[in-house]
Amino acid sequence: MNLNLSGTQNFISQKLFDAKCNNALNKLEVLLNGKGKGNDFLGWIDLPEKMLENEYKKIISATESFKKLDAVVIIGTGGSYLGARAIIEALKPQFKKSKPKILFAGHNLSADYHTELIDYLKNKEFGIVVISKSGTTTEPAIAFRLLYDLMKKQFPKNIIQKRIIVITDAEKGALRQLVNTEKFESFIIDDDIGGRYSVLSAVGLLPIAVAGYDIKQLLIGALDSKKKCTENSPENPAVQYAAVRNYLYANGYKIEAMVNYDPRFYYLTEWWKQLFGESEGKELKGIFPVSVSFTTDLHSLGQYIQQGERILFETVLYVTKNHSKLTITDNETNFDNFNYLTGKDMEFVNRKAAEATMMAHVDGKVPNIWLEIPEINEYHIGYLIYFFQIACGTSAYMLGVNPFDQPGVEDYKKNMFRLLKGK
Ligand code: PA5
Repeated sequence: MNLNLSGTQNFISQKLFDAKCNNALNKLEVLLNGKGKGNDFLGWIDLPEKMLENEYKKIISATESFKKLDAVVIIGTGGSYLGARAIIEALKPQFKKSKPKILFAGHNLSADYHTELIDYLKNKEFGIVVISKSGTTTEPAIAFRLLYDLMKKQFPKNIIQKRIIVITDAEKGALRQLVNTEKFESFIIDDDIGGRYSVLSAVGLLPIAVAGYDIKQLLIGALDSKKKCTENSPENPAVQYAAVRNYLYANGYKIEAMVNYDPRFYYLTEWWKQLFGESEGKELKGIFPVSVSFTTDLHSLGQYIQQGERILFETVLYVTKNHSKLTITDNETNFDNFNYLTGKDMEFVNRKAAEATMMAHVDGKVPNIWLEIPEINEYHIGYLIYFFQIACGTSAYMLGVNPFDQPGVEDYKKNMFRLLKGK
């Protein structure tokens, strides 16, 4: 992974950047030494080595029978959903059918979504992985209730017993009680790991393993990233990223747009939005994280970015190499006047579009951070994920907020429960 800050140089002097890096290094130390706010939620820091020791093998063996099924529904929301979805969507083929088909539920309350899902699963051999730390979240609870009911109509008890895996708290919550009575296979979400920092625990790893991806490589990537991103050095990319975004925020850049140039990263940017949005947006502070997919959104939000209010900066997530080489073909009549691209790689065109966009946006006073990974695979995604988590903890401490709580999420829930109970 390579972090290039040349697109921010017009906006921050070397001296100010160095000062911010020093501040970020101090906050990183606070994070790693467990001296900051929310320090009872630091279990995620050691997940790569912890999971590599033995845990990941247990996860793989628990998923073996699920791999033969027609479909597996992953039920969860927020941090119990986005990490797995981000990684599976980045790795899976974009058009070819995969077996088992991985489906998601419990992240919305749409009647049509769940009705169509139930219809699709009728008469299919399917399994459920239900993930909820609290075991009390409304959306996954309703989805699980519906699909568990479908299972009961479709399969005998002894089959159901092998078709449900539960990932939840060790002791608390309705799901743990169900595991105790029904003896479903289960994995624990440790008390000291919050939802949005849980992707490298069973919460993310188990669904990723069910989908057939190499969770060991993911963890090795995360471990290598840990070595780099916890270094007490101004060259540490997590420190540099936290430093520059904190400076930009203090200077009026209140929105960070995570840009991807590959549709496979759509959900990764969704995961990133939750990580930073829920960790930093509190006490009336915090960068508002948004995501855009280029070149698609250059034909929509590109106009705003170029000429709208100067309140946003971009972080471009770029992938150096595609897995396939696609050469642009010649056309004998040159009807579209694009023959000057004949023989050029599609990858070359995408990169030139990205370079041209960055130049235009920087000229238009939009600071640009460039983050590049060599290719999309388990190792590099693991590396990236861990980088973002360390950067997020550091960045939230620079802002002076607790990166590991989400008190604001409760407000809508209280109202919703009141309305649902007709009060
Ligand atoms: O990051 C978080 O803590 C949240 O997004 C939770 O993951 C989300 O609300 C789901 O909670 P639970 O796993 O308890 O169902």
